[in-house]
Amino acid sequence: MKYQIKKLLKSILGQKNLETLLDRRKLRILRSNFNEDYLLYKKHSTVFGKSSFEKKESEVTLLYHSIEKGLLYNPIRHRFAKEKIVKLINFLDDNDVKQNYSRSQIQSAITSLINYYEIHKSLNVDVSDFFKENIYRELKEKSLQQLESTKNHTRGTYFLFSENNFELFSNSRCSVRNFTGELISQEMIQKVIDLSNNAPSVCNRQPVSVYLVQNRKLIEQVFDIQGGLKGYTRDLNQVLIVTGNRNYFYSIGERNQLYIDGGIYLMNLLYALHFYKIAACPAHWGMPVSADKQMRQLIGLPESHQIICLIAIGIPTESFKTTLSFRKSYKENLIIVN
Ligand SMILES: Cc1cc2nc3c(=O)[nH]c(=O)nc-3n(C[C@H](O)[C@H](O)[C@H](O)COP(=O)(O)O)c2cc1C
Repeated sequence: MKYQIKKLLKSILGQKNLETLLDRRKLRILRSNFNEDYLLYKKHSTVFGKSSFEKKESEVTLLYHSIEKGLLYNPIRHRFAKEKIVKLINFLDDNDVKQNYSRSQIQSAITSLINYYEIHKSLNVDVSDFFKENIYRELKEKSLQQLESTKNHTRGTYFLFSENNFELFSNSRCSVRNFTGELISQEMIQKVIDLSNNAPSVCNRQPVSVYLVQNRKLIEQVFDIQGGLKGYTRDLNQVLIVTGNRNYFYSIGERNQLYIDGGIYLMNLLYALHFYKIAACPAHWGMPVSADKQMRQLIGLPESHQIICLIAIGIPTESFKTTLSFRKSYKENLIIVN
């Protein structure tokens, strides 16, 4: 039927006019689809409000993650993240949050605050002006975990399971932020990319390109724009930039497919790096288009290449810490539909 209508229209309008008409229709649909994405993001993300429990949980996670990252420093910066501590303590007093104390991310927040308090106490650094002892005691009562907010590794123990069965392998990968500054050879990076290229993609279209940046000045400039690895870039001499190429997508329904294929590729790349004993830390590219434009200029990325994520890579230092980044249990995110 569709084909017959098209044939009829072609005979009336001619091929060229028909194509123009169809393109106009596609444009309308594309606009309305992006508009719907826009409305849903506006309504459900935390950009314009933090009213639901999920939004609060996401905010709590963001805050405790910063504290975990601050605890990685050796020595720690005294009284770091004061405002975030105050905010987190307030969030934990929220009624929605109070009803969900047993959830993994709320417990992780409690653990990070307890660790923060105890480390300062052991260093004889007073934090009582923003983190009172009675709050600490209350948190201790609410804590169901006996964990530290950071994990200690040596280079040897970190890569112990990098060639092991998938469960051990996957559980042993972490985001490492401490590098020696030694360069990974081009041959090794080629091997990593070949292995990562096993990643599945829609119709095997393989839209991902990976840029390797190993110019110190460029790396500094990139992280000045990105901002998510502050304090960790001193001995960072190589960065991978994972990009998805828009030219590979042909339908309006695929408007976000490059992030899906890019995300799958990113995970495979992180695993390939771990397999070859290269330490890595992904660094988000959840950035506005103004940053995309800056990066295009800086790295020489074509407009069609969308950055998915940056990855800091290198040889890890002899010993280092990583964040606990405690994960949800399936009880918190497996939804059975009958
Ligand atoms: C897409 C993405 C973006 C990330 N961006 C950053 C970043 O900008 N800075 C940073 O220190 N860590 C970043 N991370 C690392 C996360 O903090 C880390 O993956 C998370 O806490 C889980 O810990 P793990 O990787 O050690 O298991 C990012 C991770 C992903 C997957």
